Amino acid sequence: MLIIGCLTMFAFSFKDVHTFGNVDQVRTTHLSLDLSLDFDKKVMKGSCVVKLAYADDKGAAYVDLDTRMLTIESVTNPADNSPLKYELTKDARDYMGAKLRVHLKDPKTAAVKVTYVTDPAAGALQWLDPAQTTSKKKPFLLTQSQAILARTWIPCMDSPGVRVTYDAVVRVPEGITPIMSAAHGQHEPDKGIYRFDMKHPIPPYLIALAAGEIAFKAISDRCGVYAEPAVLEKAAWEFADMEKMVVAAEKLYGKYRWDRWDAIVLPPSFPFGGMENPMLTFATPTLLAGDRSLVNVMAHELAHSWSGNLVTNATWSDFWLNEGFTTYFERRIVESLYGKDTAQMQWLLGQRDLKHEIVEMAAADQEFAKLYQDLSKHDPDAAFSSVPYDKGANFLLVLEQHFGRDKFDTFLKNYFDQHAFQTMTTEKFLTFMRKNLFKGDEKAWETLKVDTWISDPGIPGNMVIPASKNFEKTRQAAKTFAAKGDTSVVKKDTWNTEEWLDFLNSMPEKVDHARLKQLDEYANLSQAGNSEILFAWQMVCIRNTYQPSFASLEDFLLRQGRRKFLKPLYQAMMANPETKTMAKQIYTKARAGYHPISTATIDAIVK
Ligand code: BES
Ligand code: ZN
Repeated sequence: MLIIGCLTMFAFSFKDVHTFGNVDQVRTTHLSLDLSLDFDKKVMKGSCVVKLAYADDKGAAYVDLDTRMLTIESVTNPADNSPLKYELTKDARDYMGAKLRVHLKDPKTAAVKVTYVTDPAAGALQWLDPAQTTSKKKPFLLTQSQAILARTWIPCMDSPGVRVTYDAVVRVPEGITPIMSAAHGQHEPDKGIYRFDMKHPIPPYLIALAAGEIAFKAISDRCGVYAEPAVLEKAAWEFADMEKMVVAAEKLYGKYRWDRWDAIVLPPSFPFGGMENPMLTFATPTLLAGDRSLVNVMAHELAHSWSGNLVTNATWSDFWLNEGFTTYFERRIVESLYGKDTAQMQWLLGQRDLKHEIVEMAAADQEFAKLYQDLSKHDPDAAFSSVPYDKGANFLLVLEQHFGRDKFDTFLKNYFDQHAFQTMTTEKFLTFMRKNLFKGDEKAWETLKVDTWISDPGIPGNMVIPASKNFEKTRQAAKTFAAKGDTSVVKKDTWNTEEWLDFLNSMPEKVDHARLKQLDEYANLSQAGNSEILFAWQMVCIRNTYQPSFASLEDFLLRQGRRKFLKPLYQAMMANPETKTMAKQIYTKARAGYHPISTATIDAIVK
């Protein structure tokens, strides 16, 4: 029987400049992957059946897909295995990859099948040797597809505005367990065959795979943690509040729609703190502080199950709709689980990063200081900063304060409900908000500076700065300690992570080495097990060329690859003439252990 391509009328009201997909005529609706993982060659080999839907009953003469560094072996019509003609056209902009144009004999072809091999240097994939894992016994593979790296391992319309369901067959060598951002299907472990199924339509940047020696521990009926066996207990302890987080999130903005919420703690080279892959958050082991103090990242990834995964930014220009909403939501979850004080301190730490980053942004990069950004000439990754996160979240905080929590929460809940599994542009959001939150109050629109928040660089004057008694104390302590070296103001036994961070961030530019020595001896900061505190401490040490901390700095840079830490540390080392050589030496040793996403960033810093 011949399957007729499903006919759905659709029209896009926005243009995603980061896809080659001819989305106005045809869209991908489902991907069926069959992939064999070759850890020796560091490649995936297999096929992807791409189901198509057409804009109207004329169909299309061809379908254009995104690929990057893929070797295409064949393209066929899976209905009868007949070959289809195709061309691969590489773009001058590396990050765009190559357009795969498949000519359709029948303009309403239901699906095309692409057989291909990935490149060992594929941007989404990191292949770890056993030595780079905790157990050191088995190799490991991890993917990171956001923003436009799905095309380095899956031929698809790699646009957040094109949603697909997917299923996958993953074939692995003995002793390797794969896991994906999807429901489990029929696994055949003896044969090394595993199956997955994602029934909800998602953007391709949320397709994710990890494979290695992976064990599981349940936290509740619907939550659990995957990790290498040696890390599992620690990870499960650290993330024990996952279930409580889902309960708090559901109370705020409605039902969790992804069935399960599991997390996997990856080897330390994972380039992000967390990644909101549906049903399966990917997390860095640098969150395992031993005191649950960094779990706001988990709250953040969970929040994406509404903002981002359910209602998705239409293009990377609208990225703040994902991250700004999520950061706001994250802090609401933190507040309901850990209290107002903690949440307020996190708001303030975020505001500090934001101010810092906007000040540092080059004049040429001012576009990246806006919420809605013109990225037509940029890799979306180049725009990555705390702007979409903290400027976005602070814009929502301004709205919350003006309208009150009750109204604002109702508005957000309706926003998620009414746009579930849909795509959102900044413009569409503003229209929805004008109607459902402002309800015609043009004066409030003016006073709250809505257009300034969205379209101008910088931080609008009406940002809400929460008061924090705790931070008044830590700021005073930083001053007193730097001036007098009085350790009695350093409350090492009572300060929580946020207080430590504010104390360290509030240190003056120049601090005497004698003071740094005293502080390190007193609080053992160079040996801090908390990655955020260690990072903040090292930032102070680098700008003051405090040699005694540099062994610990090197160790930190060699044992983890989280870009949020690497980037500022290498930048600071390169900015200080006395640490520049050290930066280069460390990077030469460390580079091979970093994910391609991190090396792309750090290569540009350590030249
Ligand atoms: N989705 C992001 C990570 C991301 C963004 C990857 C853009 C690639 C391109 C994730 O949700 C995130 O924001 N992670 C943060 C968490 C933090 C802000 C709480 C991180 O990794 O640090
Ligand atoms: Zn996020």
